[in-house]
Amino acid sequence: MTSAARLLVVDDEANMRTVLTGLLSREGYVVEAAANGRAALEALERSGGNVHAILTDLRMPEMDGMTLLEEIGKRYPGRPVVMLTAHGTVDTAVEAMKVGAFDFVTKPFNADELRAVMAKAVNTARAEMDAVEPMRGGTVDAKGKFGMIGMSKPMQDIYDILEKVADTPTTVLITGESGTGKELVAQALHEHSSRAHRPFIRVNCAAIPQTLIESELFGHEKGAFTGAIASKPGRFELADKGTLFLDEIAEIPTEMQVKLLRAIQESSFERVGGLKTMKVDVRLIAATNRNLQVEVEEGRFREDLFYRLNVIPIHLPPLRERPADIPMLVSHMLERFNDRLKKGVQRLSPEAIAAFRSYAWPGNVREMENVLERLVLFCEGDEISLELLPDELRSGSAALAAGAAANAPRLDRDLTGRVSMKELVRETTAQLEKELIVQALEQTGGNVTRASQLLMISRKSLQNKMKEFNLRDDS
Ligand SMILES: Nc1ncnc2c1ncn2[C@@H]1O[C@H](COP(=O)(O)OP(=O)(O)OP(=O)(O)O)[C@@H](O)[C@H]1O
Ligand SMILES: [Mg+2]
Repeated sequence: MTSAARLLVVDDEANMRTVLTGLLSREGYVVEAAANGRAALEALERSGGNVHAILTDLRMPEMDGMTLLEEIGKRYPGRPVVMLTAHGTVDTAVEAMKVGAFDFVTKPFNADELRAVMAKAVNTARAEMDAVEPMRGGTVDAKGKFGMIGMSKPMQDIYDILEKVADTPTTVLITGESGTGKELVAQALHEHSSRAHRPFIRVNCAAIPQTLIESELFGHEKGAFTGAIASKPGRFELADKGTLFLDEIAEIPTEMQVKLLRAIQESSFERVGGLKTMKVDVRLIAATNRNLQVEVEEGRFREDLFYRLNVIPIHLPPLRERPADIPMLVSHMLERFNDRLKKGVQRLSPEAIAAFRSYAWPGNVREMENVLERLVLFCEGDEISLELLPDELRSGSAALAAGAAANAPRLDRDLTGRVSMKELVRETTAQLEKELIVQALEQTGGNVTRASQLLMISRKSLQNKMKEFNLRDDS
């Protein structure tokens, strides 16, 4: 299903290019090579930015690795850039990480380490290339605040909290369904704090193999484990004086949670294999799309860590709970996609906007961005009409759209028979509910708590529904 990831290797030494290209091609990547930063930018341009990750040397003629990193940051924000650095230039590599490099590998490199780092970069890129680059900065404008769009009541409540807590050292826990803007909020907190000119370091806890998480967070000393051929600072150190954003925090293995708790409580830790205790000053932000309280109840997340993180909770409401923001988001996104795709789409037809407002958007703002991007791309005129919309949006029913459309039972009913619409709706809804519950139970092997999470209803109401539909509670 997923096609091979594309990599760009940048080094001025032809030998190095050959070795790296060979090694990474054998991993199944499609690899292109460039001899310096300028050539790399041209290659990126030619591919329309369709490269998952970049591996670049630091010192090169014409355009060096640092400049390339900065240019990529401007033109392709979020694209992981891994720096390749000679032993003597580790300081520069650390600097590079502070301005946004994804990671670095020292030369002469260890093939396993390089493979692992590039795999991690590609994972991160894959997760993010579906999304469009987040907007940064931006203070107040008519449509929203803190670089976010939306003036609905729930959004205004969020702006109020942001105003109060942005410039404090207090830990913030951001929750919300996938695609609701958690990362955007984390960035806003950083950018509106006095740490704004210091590093913002993000760790996607879900993308790091469990065995590497400790060294990723706390760094390691030379020889701490096979492959640790040089010592390396972790994300806590890199974020010193700045903000550390622990994304997908629920995915941290329980053993690591103890160490993390200590690091947070004492602002200190040791590198893997190191004896020296490091002290740092970081502002911590964590995010998750899971219900951490349930994770705690079920023993997957430490309660003490949960309370330590949950100092200021910010919950992002799903898009379906703030349909008033939809027209604003649409016009904002149309502008961006027109610009990017060189199109001139002016609006959605009234019917199309109505469909946008009644759809349940299980993937929230991100899903809407993806849908709109395709629509803008395929729209010939200046208006997007209802017919252009994907099926799940046109079918209109919010329940059907709630993510189950594909498998939901079809309603085969002769409407000429005498049956009131109300009754029909009630019956169909019940049928759909039952179907969704059965599916959720199947998917979770009959685990009611998990199924209720999946369906985003409380465990209690799921049990009531199961009773109503004669579904047995086996858990
Ligand atoms: N209020 C908003 N205004 C404008 N854009 C938004 C808003 N909320 C989210 N977005 C955009 O939607 C996309 C998804 O947002 P983001 O990555 O912050 O979501 P998330 O909650 O971190 O999702 P996930 O849980 O999947 O990581 C981004 O491109 C972001 O810019
Ligand atoms: Mg996110």
